[in-house]
Amino acid sequence: MLSSVRSAAQRLLNGIHSRALRTTNAVQHDSLFVHRDSPDDNQAMSFEFTEDNKKRVEAILAIYPDGHKRAAMIPLLDLAQRQHGWLPIAAMHKVAEILHLPNMRVYEVATFYTMFMRKPMGKYHLQVCTTTPCWLRGSDEILEAIMKDLNIKVGETTKDGMFTISEVECLGACVNAPMVQINDDYYEDLTVQDTQQILSELKSGKKPRAGPWNGRMAAEPLGEPTSLKGEPPGPGFGVRSDL
Ligand code: FES
Repeated sequence: MLSSVRSAAQRLLNGIHSRALRTTNAVQHDSLFVHRDSPDDNQAMSFEFTEDNKKRVEAILAIYPDGHKRAAMIPLLDLAQRQHGWLPIAAMHKVAEILHLPNMRVYEVATFYTMFMRKPMGKYHLQVCTTTPCWLRGSDEILEAIMKDLNIKVGETTKDGMFTISEVECLGACVNAPMVQINDDYYEDLTVQDTQQILSELKSGKKPRAGPWNGRMAAEPLGEPTSLKGEPPGPGFGVRSDL
């Protein structure tokens, strides 16, 4: 009995030893989710909206009824980020002051949403989607081409302050994979050559054409339509005649 238990245990151990060891990637992200005081971003600094943006702040607040003004937090943080180029802690404090909230309530939102950049960013923020549909369509090659062209890695900014690269999860444009978001625009159906052309246009101060780069207007089939080609049937189509 004892020997059969021993041999079963030995077989189990052999099985464990012969199985390949796999590990997942270390958890990484190019944003730090805690604040560290730095010369560019510390609690002694102050932030003020420009006169034009103060009017925008009033317009945003007016959308929300009394008692619910805190719902303006994301638009106000976004406005601060657009003004400053990224979101320093002083801007979060200003938003907390406007909304009469503890600073912590604003930190919670600003650290949760990856749309808020809490470190200095390049003029152009390249967000490369590498989730499965984009990956299957070549996003690794697109990311590699961008890093090679700009000579920086994910999470880094070029020395001239022009470009920052981020690797992001699905941006909801999978049907136009692979794609890259640059600031507010989506560049879709990309090849490595298209991506290089987009970078070269940005470097020369031009605004590349946003949207699909393979000739599609949006997310329709490439080439001829494949469905909904005839006259649409009228009301009652397919309904039983006795109803
Ligand atoms: Fe890239 Fe959805 S997977 S946009």
